[in-house]
Amino acid sequence: AKVKLVSGIHDSWVAFTYEAAEAVLKDERFVKNPRTVFPDVSEHELMPITHSMLFADPPDHRRLRSLVQRGFTPKMIQRLQGRIEEIAKIQVEQMKGKGTVDLIADYAFPIPIIVICELLGVPPEDRLDFQRWSNSMVEINDDPSFYEQVEVHIKEFQLYIEQLLAEKRIHPQDDLLSELIRAEEDGDKLSVQELYGAIMLMIVAGHETTVNLIANGMLALFTHPEQLKKLKESPNLIDGAIEEILRFNGPVEFSTDRYARESFTFMGKQLQKGDHVLVSLASADHDPTVFSWPDKLDITRERSPHLAFGKGIHYCLGAPLARLEGKIAIQTLLNAFPEIQINTALANLEWRQSFVIRGLKELP
Ligand code: HEM
Repeated sequence: AKVKLVSGIHDSWVAFTYEAAEAVLKDERFVKNPRTVFPDVSEHELMPITHSMLFADPPDHRRLRSLVQRGFTPKMIQRLQGRIEEIAKIQVEQMKGKGTVDLIADYAFPIPIIVICELLGVPPEDRLDFQRWSNSMVEINDDPSFYEQVEVHIKEFQLYIEQLLAEKRIHPQDDLLSELIRAEEDGDKLSVQELYGAIMLMIVAGHETTVNLIANGMLALFTHPEQLKKLKESPNLIDGAIEEILRFNGPVEFSTDRYARESFTFMGKQLQKGDHVLVSLASADHDPTVFSWPDKLDITRERSPHLAFGKGIHYCLGAPLARLEGKIAIQTLLNAFPEIQINTALANLEWRQSFVIRGLKELP
C-alpha cells in the first residue's frame, strides 16, 4: 500500500502482507544505498552509518559484510556462551533484594551492551554515551529541536570513534575493531568512512535490538501467564519461545529504507524510480495466511518462518548472537526469580517513538 508515514515527507510504499514483505526483501531491484538512485545527494546529508553494509548494495555490500562476518560465525558466537552466562548472573545478583527494578535498565540493556562492547573492543563504561548516541539514530520526535540534538549527538559519536580508532591503531588488540582497522590499513578493502560506518552500525545494532528481545519477550510472557507457566515447567521450550517472541513482539518493527532502483511493476503496483519502500516486519509476522492465530503467543508453535531478522542479502548478521543472548538472559532470569511479575502499580507501559524499533521505555 502507498501511505504517508510522516507528515511533510513524500508517500512511501509499505509491504504489509507476508508475501509482499518477503518479496521486497529478496528483490535486489529495491536498493539500500541512496546514492544509487539519487546521485546528487551530498555526502554531508548522509549519516556516517550510511557507509555501512546495511545501506550498501552489491558488490560493496558483499565486501563490507564479509569483513565483519568473520567475528560472527556460529563457532565464534558459541565461544561467547560462558561469558554471556557470567554477565547475566552478575546482573541478576545486582537485582537481588531490590524489590522492584526496571527490567530494561537493570537487566535487558546491560547484557547485550557488555557483550557487543567486549566483542568490538570498546569500553563498556561508555555505554550511557553510546545509548544516547544510538537512540538518536533510531528515535523520532515532533519537537523541532530534536533534529538539532540528533546532529550534535552524531558529531559526538563520530569524535568518540575517531579517538578510539587513534588509540587502537597504536595499541591493536584481539578484537573486532583492531581487525577492521587492519582491513582498512591493508589498502582498498575498507575506506575510513566505511570503517566508521561499520563501527556505528555494530554499536547501534548492539544497543537497540537484543535489549528489546529480552524485554518484549518478558512482557509477552507476563501477559500470557499460561505460556510463562509452560516455559517454567519445561525449560527445554526456550528455543521455541525465543522464535515465538521474535515473531509476536519483534524488536524491529519496520525494515530500514529501500528505494526502487528503476521504474517497474511489482505485485500489480506501478513503482517509479526512487520510490521509498519499507517493509512492515511486524505486520508480516502477524499475517494469518502464514501463522494460524497470529495474535496468540504460542511458544510451542511448530513452524515459524518469521521475518524478525529480515531476509535476503541483508539478513541480520547478529541473529545467532541475539538468539543466544535472548535465550540465556530469559532462562537466567526465570531461574533466579521464578515468581517474577510486572509491578502493575508502577507499570505505565509506554513504547518508545521510533519507526524501526519496537521497545518499551521501562518495564517495572
Ligand atoms: C540487519 C533484526 C540483533 C547486526 C538486521 C535486519 C533486521 C535485524 C530485521 C535487516 C534490516 C533490513 O533488511 O532492512 C535484528 C533483531 C535483533 C538483531 C530483531 C535482536 C533480536 C543484532 C545484533 C547485531 C546485529 C546483536 C550485531 C551486533 C546486524 C547487522 C545487520 C543487521 C550488521 C546488517 C546486515 C546487512 O546489511 O547485510 N537486523 N537484529 N543485529 N543486523 Fe540485526
